[in-house]
Amino acid sequence: MRLDPDSALNHLPQPLVIVTAGDFEKPGRRGGMTAAWVSRVSMSPPLIMVSIAPSRYTLELVRENREFAVNIVGGKLEKAAYGVFGSKTGRGLDKIAESRVKARRGEKTRVPILEDAALTLECRLVKTVEAGDHVLAIGEVVNALKFSDEQPIVFTP
Ligand SMILES: Cc1cc2nc3c(=O)[nH]c(=O)nc-3n(C[C@H](O)[C@H](O)[C@H](O)COP(=O)(O)O)c2cc1C
Repeated sequence: MRLDPDSALNHLPQPLVIVTAGDFEKPGRRGGMTAAWVSRVSMSPPLIMVSIAPSRYTLELVRENREFAVNIVGGKLEKAAYGVFGSKTGRGLDKIAESRVKARRGEKTRVPILEDAALTLECRLVKTVEAGDHVLAIGEVVNALKFSDEQPIVFTP
């Protein structure tokens, strides 16, 4: 059976993360979005990429501060990932406050990190690369924090 490329790609198992960006101390200039198009891309240095549509407010914040965090979602954050972080734009909305998730400023970055995540990877932006209709934000992991033993969520769309 031959599939069209778009629906074939929906069979790739995908991680569920919330990418946060901006400055935790500035409620008007902080935010985050749910992402599934996320991958490790280099061992040394440890690089990770997130594929972000150009319209996302989160991409604006990533470009502004050149930092982001990848918060790996387990059961505790699942509702927020499919809800406010994955369905509303952060333009004019403070998703951190709205979602009532436990958050604080990163240790090596200024971005909000989500303590309700299983794990958080703080990243410095290395470069952005245009790829088709998305932009790849490639970052170096500069700090990693484990908050719980929750199993990270993996899904197939
Ligand atoms: C399960 C799920 C996965 C998503 N994956 C991505 C993704 O990989 N890249 C992307 O640009 N948007 C993705 N989105 C859509 C954004 O999370 C959504 O448009 C968000 O509201 C953008 O918020 P912002 O404008 O505040 O950045 C996903 C949404 C959901 C629910």
